Amino acid sequence: MHGLPESCSLRNTAYKRIWIVGASHNAREMMGFLRDIQQHQETDIPVAGFLDDGMAGKKEIIREKLFPFDFTILPAKDYVPRSGDLFLNSIGTPENKQRVVPKLLQKGATFITLVHPTVHFGYNNSVGLGCIFQPYSVCTTNIHFGNFISIGSYCLVADDVTIGDFSTLMTRSFAGSGSAIGKLVCMNTGSSTMEYTVIEDRATIGVHSVILRKAKTGCVYFGLPAKPIGQTEQNKNFTLILCKAQEKDVKFVFDLVNDDLARTMSLGGSRITMEEHETWFRQRLRNGNPFYIGYCDNTPCGYVRFDDKEGDIFISVAIAGKFRGRGIGSAMISASCRAVLLMKAASCIHADIKSTNTASLRAFQKAWFVPAADTGTPDVIRLRYPEQVKNTDCYGRKVAG
Ligand SMILES: CC(C)(COP(=O)(O)OP(=O)(O)OC[C@H]1O[C@@H](n2cnc3c(N)ncnc32)[C@H](O)[C@@H]1OP(=O)(O)O)[C@@H](O)C(=O)NCCC(=O)NCCS
Repeated sequence: MHGLPESCSLRNTAYKRIWIVGASHNAREMMGFLRDIQQHQETDIPVAGFLDDGMAGKKEIIREKLFPFDFTILPAKDYVPRSGDLFLNSIGTPENKQRVVPKLLQKGATFITLVHPTVHFGYNNSVGLGCIFQPYSVCTTNIHFGNFISIGSYCLVADDVTIGDFSTLMTRSFAGSGSAIGKLVCMNTGSSTMEYTVIEDRATIGVHSVILRKAKTGCVYFGLPAKPIGQTEQNKNFTLILCKAQEKDVKFVFDLVNDDLARTMSLGGSRITMEEHETWFRQRLRNGNPFYIGYCDNTPCGYVRFDDKEGDIFISVAIAGKFRGRGIGSAMISASCRAVLLMKAASCIHADIKSTNTASLRAFQKAWFVPAADTGTPDVIRLRYPEQVKNTDCYGRKVAG
């Protein structure tokens, strides 16, 4: 038994009503978990209704099955933002979460991470936005949960596991120590991974199946030991590695900052001489703020750096022309921000982006940046990477270091 991490608390007087995203049987189950949590936290925020794109006929089913109160049911696309609204995701299928949730985030939705009071939540775990931890699941220690992860009842997530965005572990699944579970993975009821197993993005593990070493991208596995029984899609991946910038990278970064598109989209504007660049680059390496060169399939493809401006950390990114439009920019933003937050080099990261820079705005949104305060300059949009729940003890209190 334990209390909730601070940022999972419903005790915020700004929250006036809760919308449940999805209206399936999961949503009805979620209502019960929510009731337990409200009792535990002594809150009483009303449920306004359900957002579900396939809503036809569901209102009567929901009313008949469970709820004696009046509620609204809307397609998510018709939702109009109102202050005081809080969102709870009930969608379990990874692809459906990925389809619906970003549209609501773009409308400014705030999602709660829900941890049932019976969950054991150990030391030093980090949790992204909108995750769900159902009753009696056990999450031991040093686990990294990405965004919108669903952990079913009685799951066990062992130490040092990482789980990527939108993945779902259904009831009684087991993730062995040190396993790396990618994005959009679905582990069906009772499935398991051995220690240090790799489950690549979009893999599906069948009911009660056991992965011994690796499940490949987009493949469906079944059995004990689990064997691939199908492929949902071809592997579209690339390998991205981030290395600390070094002296030898001076020319690569120079070419990138002087690229026509990069200059047009820069808030600074004018071209830079090699002499100015060398002086800046050396000083920048010395000041120690995070600065990475991205390698895509072993070739330098871009840079990302984090600069301190009057106490706030700002990110800058550029991808070399031939690597653009392949998802590398958003992957690099997301990986570097996670590294910087885990190293505790910053607690919140900002990005200032020209309003005309559609590619950049989209890349940052895909990497989970959300609108921040107004910059006061009409053609510059400020986004921020939300702080994650980190360093909580088993009672959800912040711990030092
Ligand atoms: C902005 C930048 C870093 C994005 O990197 P990238 O690798 O091209 O971005 P991604 O491939 O991850 O694409 C992210 C999204 O933007 C979209 N996008 C890419 N180029 C686009 C364009 N020219 N117009 C509209 N959308 C675009 C992609 O389709 C993708 O969205 P989707 O997955 O919904 O389809 C890169 O274009 C760049 O280096 N630009 C020059 C420097 C710059 O502007 N830096 C940012 C300053 S704030």
